[in-house]
Amino acid sequence: MTDDVLVVHGGTPLQGRIRVRGAKNLVSKAMVAALLGDSPSRLFDVPKIRDVEVVRGLLGLHGVKVTDGDDDGELIFDPANVESASTDQINVHAGSSRIPILFCGPLLHRLGHAFIPDLGGCHIGPRPIDFHLQALREFGATVDKTPEGLHLSAPNGLRGTKFALPYPSVGATEQVLLTAVMAEGVTELRNAAVEPEIIDLICVLQKMGAIIKVHTDRVIEIQGVPKLHGYTHRPIPDRIEAASWAAAALATRGHVEVLGAEQADMMTFLNVFRSVGGEYEVTDARPPKLGHPGQEGGIRFWHPGGELNAVALETDVHPGFMTDWQQPLVVALTQARGLSIVHETVYEQRLGYTEALNSMGANIQVYRDCLGGTPCRFGRRNFKHSAVIAGPSKLHAADLVIPDLRAGFSHLIAALAAEGTSRVYGVDLINRGYEDFEAKLADLGAHVERP
Ligand code: EPU
Repeated sequence: MTDDVLVVHGGTPLQGRIRVRGAKNLVSKAMVAALLGDSPSRLFDVPKIRDVEVVRGLLGLHGVKVTDGDDDGELIFDPANVESASTDQINVHAGSSRIPILFCGPLLHRLGHAFIPDLGGCHIGPRPIDFHLQALREFGATVDKTPEGLHLSAPNGLRGTKFALPYPSVGATEQVLLTAVMAEGVTELRNAAVEPEIIDLICVLQKMGAIIKVHTDRVIEIQGVPKLHGYTHRPIPDRIEAASWAAAALATRGHVEVLGAEQADMMTFLNVFRSVGGEYEVTDARPPKLGHPGQEGGIRFWHPGGELNAVALETDVHPGFMTDWQQPLVVALTQARGLSIVHETVYEQRLGYTEALNSMGANIQVYRDCLGGTPCRFGRRNFKHSAVIAGPSKLHAADLVIPDLRAGFSHLIAALAAEGTSRVYGVDLINRGYEDFEAKLADLGAHVERP
């Protein structure tokens, strides 16, 4: 096996305080948006994670000068000399992230053509890009799929369109936004995703000079403009990372304060956390005043002692329970008395990691049926996408191999909650989306080491 391994001596409650920065799933898109401006953009609170490095590399290849600002986590993007990159150069980033697909619209606007490498990202289902390509064709782009990647061109420019997504996909909504803002005329997108990260991307684009209206019922209307300028933006905090640490606090019977966590974006998670029996307290941020240093906002999460309660939940698009909150929370659910039900309705193959939890003593069965209240797209398609978790189970140590980012974090939580010493292989994958997670574990008193 690889030497990319973390040795975890479990059984110690996590205690302490950590900080989350800008949301991975906004920051990477805001970085792509900088390509659209005719002057520099400035983004604060950018976490040091692998996905940011991939986008930074791709921007650099296309002539965007990316420099570190004076603040920790500040990046400055200068798009004055946007230029084509060779397919060989771009292909260095093949398979490393899903963000490159969002370069289509901005590169078509800036250069008239684009090459997109084979995508990466987590293996949690087939993850097709058909909605993206359909939308781009609606705008007038020509898409040529080749074995090395996608070649796109827009010889006659891009024009606004009326388009309905078959499912409110986050990425496809971002694709439409990043393309429509500078397309000629009006675009109406129906069945759009409205995740907080999307609304924050709309804020970024609006700062750049875009005209975007978010109507009721998932309709977004974009009035194309001929040019956009740079932005200055502080992103929303990472609500997936915040929930991951909250779940870790609950599963290890600990107490973790997550500075930067934002209540409004986590309401659905907080309701479930409380139903399971976890406690939390929200601290609002206070600006400094004369004689008072001010206060950073955040949320304190803890296990109040006693038993946790089983719950039934379905993952869903916003404002539902995020699919990315699912894996970390399931570890805590192995400690709840009774039968919990989790119906995963966003990705068809996001429960594979439960096998590893079972190898540690959990009792989780997965089913092809829709076990939530609502039948979903996967019900008749033979995917094991519902789980029944019987608890409480005493978790014991095991050797684990991390399959993907969020499941990887759940493996880590399970190892921290289990009695004994686990070896978690492939932990570097966690650096794709969790900044400095090893330093944070140390701050929370976890007993972990690199062998
Ligand atoms: N889908 C299609 N066709 C498409 C696009 C999507 O069928 O062209 C399907 C997907 O297969 C999936 C569903 O639509 O079943 C939702 O996918 P979506 O497009 O919303 O996901 P995404 O944009 O690829 C982002 C996040 C994911 C997060 C989802 C859902 C980024 C970089 N990734 O993915 O985050 O789970 O939205 O909220 O923003 C993660 O951070 O670990 C992660 C996987």
